[in-house]
Amino acid sequence: MSGYNRVTEKIVEELRRIAGKGNVIVDEEKLEAYSHDETDAAEYGHMPEAAVLPANAEQVAAIIKLANREHIPVTPRGAGSGLSGGAIPEYGGIVISLEKMNRLIELDKANMAAVVEAGMVTNDFAQAVQDEGLFFAGYPMSLQTCLIGGNIAENAGGGKAVKYGVTGRYILGLELVTPQGDIVNLGGKLAKDVTGYDLKSLIIGSEGTLGIVTKAVIRLIGYPAAKSDLLVLFKTPREAIDLVPVILSRGLTPVSIEFMDRLSIITSCRYLNESLPYENAGAMLLIELDGTNPDQIEEDLIETGKLCESHGALNVYVAEDRNNIERIWNVRRNIAEAFKVFSPVQSLEDIVVPISRIPELIPRLEELGKKYALQIPCYGHAGDGNLHATLVKDPSMGMEEWHKNEKACLKELYKITMDLGGKISGEHGIGIKRRDYLQNLIDPGELELMRAVKKAWDPNNIMNPGKIFAPFILF
Ligand code: LAC
Ligand code: ZN
Repeated sequence: MSGYNRVTEKIVEELRRIAGKGNVIVDEEKLEAYSHDETDAAEYGHMPEAAVLPANAEQVAAIIKLANREHIPVTPRGAGSGLSGGAIPEYGGIVISLEKMNRLIELDKANMAAVVEAGMVTNDFAQAVQDEGLFFAGYPMSLQTCLIGGNIAENAGGGKAVKYGVTGRYILGLELVTPQGDIVNLGGKLAKDVTGYDLKSLIIGSEGTLGIVTKAVIRLIGYPAAKSDLLVLFKTPREAIDLVPVILSRGLTPVSIEFMDRLSIITSCRYLNESLPYENAGAMLLIELDGTNPDQIEEDLIETGKLCESHGALNVYVAEDRNNIERIWNVRRNIAEAFKVFSPVQSLEDIVVPISRIPELIPRLEELGKKYALQIPCYGHAGDGNLHATLVKDPSMGMEEWHKNEKACLKELYKITMDLGGKISGEHGIGIKRRDYLQNLIDPGELELMRAVKKAWDPNNIMNPGKIFAPFILF
């Protein structure tokens, strides 16, 4: 019993009046695309009753007013590239997809800002500003498909966060449709703003539970024209990871320090039909440096390379050529997708710990793998302490045993992570996937404050219900 009302024919008619007939989908076959994200559809997917593709914030507001009046759940959706079930309509109801709101509204060079609709593809936005010599530093691994609105909802991290930070750092303002259907503007083209509570920051990373972002004001910086990458090979994952705090504590600020263990590299290379010089390597670090001064990059590159060599690297390759850099990053970006293809039954994690503690994580992953008879390949944003340990089912293991072992292993992994001063999600979010674990791990006082915010903001619990909080523990 969800306690929500159904989307009746009469309500579909109203949705059509609001958004136009062609923008309301009720056909089962077409709705399927709106029933899952990048988590396992069989485990987490759920069909909506209708999907609406609005053209502007006023239409979004009208749909939400209708949903409130009729007590129907609303699930906001970007590209569906999320990894925690955030865009899945667990209680049916209406999916609001932002895919048609994809315009770059304004590029304001004087204020180093852009105004963009939430449905613009992240890479299209990054390219458009790059054409003007400007830089948007957000770089989720799904940037070729994911939408700016989804990046904001999840406060996406990704591959440039060591130097540039995560999405939230670049959000100056938001147009938000609240769960009551009001349109509010938070922040603006301002470098400073302490005018009351920082509601904009509350929305960033709130997983679509506090409203729908329809527009964003984005902070831009100058494009760092000089760029070099180091591909560093190690015999063991432990040696690669041990080096990360060494590099960072020297005061070097690479754009990224990405880690890939052997299985991750091989799986992605196989998937892409690509080859990297991994033959003897048990793990790799991909270290990117950028800036405006090529001489400075060269200097930092030499220093970083020397540091790697004196700490047990097998080989250090320099990639300065754009094509080679892109080839290597393509291998890195496609690891998650490659594992999905080769081992569909799996659990992709994104635990995060203080950087100095990541060396302690690797041996623990090996122990967990043995204890629960799972393979746990690992890759990710080592320079942020954010690792994608991936629990993979052995083909010989039955599904019942897998579910039992997966749950027990995750519980233990999360406990280890928190004991190291970490958190259970660095960038993918809680969504449906981690909500039951969160309840038992988070400080009860903190959970109570989060619940209080949700209740005040969305008293009818129509806005993306079931995400972050277990269903109906809320009210
Ligand atoms: C990545 C995604 C899984 O870093 O976050 O590849
Ligand atoms: Zn990631």
